[in-house]
Amino acid sequence: MENRETWSGNFGFIMATIGSAIGLGNVWKFPYITGMNGGGAFVIVYIVCVLLLGVPVMICEMNIGRKTGLNAYGAYKRLELRRSRIGRFIAAGLILGGLCLIGAGSYGFGTVSVIAGLIVLKLGFAAFGLLAIFGALAILSYYAVVGGWIVDYMFRSFSGNLNYSDVASAGEAFGKLTESPWRVSLFYVLFMVLCGAMLVGGVRNGIEKWSKILMPLLFFLLIAVIVRSVTLPGSWPGVKFFLEPDFSKLTAGGILMALGQCFYSLSLGMGITVTYGSYMRKNQDIFAASFWVMVLDTLAAVLAGLAIFPAVFAMGFNPGDGPSLIFKILPATFNHFPGGTGWLWGGLFFLMLTIGAVTSGVALLQNGVSFFQDQLKWSRMRSIAVCFCGVTLFGFLSSLSVANWKHIPAVKTLIGKMFGAEHVPGSFFDMLDNLTSNWMLPIGGMVICLFVGWVWTARKAARELRLGASKSSPDVNLISLLAGFLGEPMYKTTRDHGLTLISLWAIIIRFFAPVVIFLIFLRAVGVNIGF
Ligand code: PHE
Repeated sequence: MENRETWSGNFGFIMATIGSAIGLGNVWKFPYITGMNGGGAFVIVYIVCVLLLGVPVMICEMNIGRKTGLNAYGAYKRLELRRSRIGRFIAAGLILGGLCLIGAGSYGFGTVSVIAGLIVLKLGFAAFGLLAIFGALAILSYYAVVGGWIVDYMFRSFSGNLNYSDVASAGEAFGKLTESPWRVSLFYVLFMVLCGAMLVGGVRNGIEKWSKILMPLLFFLLIAVIVRSVTLPGSWPGVKFFLEPDFSKLTAGGILMALGQCFYSLSLGMGITVTYGSYMRKNQDIFAASFWVMVLDTLAAVLAGLAIFPAVFAMGFNPGDGPSLIFKILPATFNHFPGGTGWLWGGLFFLMLTIGAVTSGVALLQNGVSFFQDQLKWSRMRSIAVCFCGVTLFGFLSSLSVANWKHIPAVKTLIGKMFGAEHVPGSFFDMLDNLTSNWMLPIGGMVICLFVGWVWTARKAARELRLGASKSSPDVNLISLLAGFLGEPMYKTTRDHGLTLISLWAIIIRFFAPVVIFLIFLRAVGVNIGF
């Protein structure tokens, strides 16, 4: 661990971490779910989720990463000194739940649950570290397929071949693309190569060096597209649609989406921030870093909406079309830009999105790479080669089956046999997205809170957190601060006994976050919890 690489400083770390956070989640998902869920009203709920759940979980992840200097699996293993009671309790729950499922005739899910329980019994919390690492590689395998579409669109736009006069013809062309597995696969592999290439230099000379150039460029491109977009005649209704709060459109489902989106957008629950945190130095401030990552990630999401909606409205299109916004409505929108400059703006937009997606892909890959380096002591190049090849091969299942199962019928039959035909979704691609985003991210987030709050203990975690933090900030008494009493002499004796930033964080991760995430998780998987 002594010769582990480190980030060169705060700026490099923050750029790399927002590189992992800003991606398709911000530019593609956030604008359309905001549009569907009451505009500014959704943005407010989202920001509350980020503050109450996202940032506390991010702090946990960076903290255990920096403490141990290891990947998620290694970090859990090192910090769980004795097999914890909570770990055994979870294992028992999984085994009993699995047996009940088998009893009820649900053999596939039951068996998976029992096996998971036995693994947790054997490995303790480290089992969840493994789940996170392989979950992240699985996310990469389909994320890179979407990344490939984006690269494809960027090339087509710059070469003037993304010219559709209306949404219907753009939609038809997109449909054709998703039905051409070899073209999808070609760009998918290209995307993977871009991610792998960025890693070759390592943490400081690869990820950090590239992020320091690419992230400012991403913000620059985003702002350039916004300026063009809001100066188009008739763009104002787009700004209003995106940001004007309409609380009547906000439903319980929308609130759940805000929570899921907050984890997805900040790349939490998958061990990624543990890995990035493991390259931090003790004199870096975790509170400050997570604050900046949160601000910049949220800013990027809001800016993406401001780049997209004004242009869509100005060109007279209807944005309410959900996920097809980027691949169907936007190409048609750019095509109508005045002066025939649409190819340029479209190209710049997709370049910006390519940057966001590649820097997220790199983080997902590095998560696996650091696991092999730390646990099996493999060299960096060997770890990169194995992760790259493994993910690329596995990802063909997604790239060949974006629209349906036509090219991989055997996999469909197998999954149908194991879990029941009614649980086979529209494609392998959909299945992975649902499995990782709706199941693995919330489980990962909840587990890390329980682990840091109760197993490693909040007390020890707080000690680590104070390292590198500016002297007073974590322990400043928030009540005294708000009341303006900080200068009072008595404050010196009471500052550790009250609501401080660090005690607020500890309370959230011990009680609030695990309970709330568990409820959301139940709801997301279809259990009726009364709202
Ligand atoms: N945060 C990334 C995005 O917004 C996606 C991501 C999700 C990356 C989960 C890693 C883990 O696009």
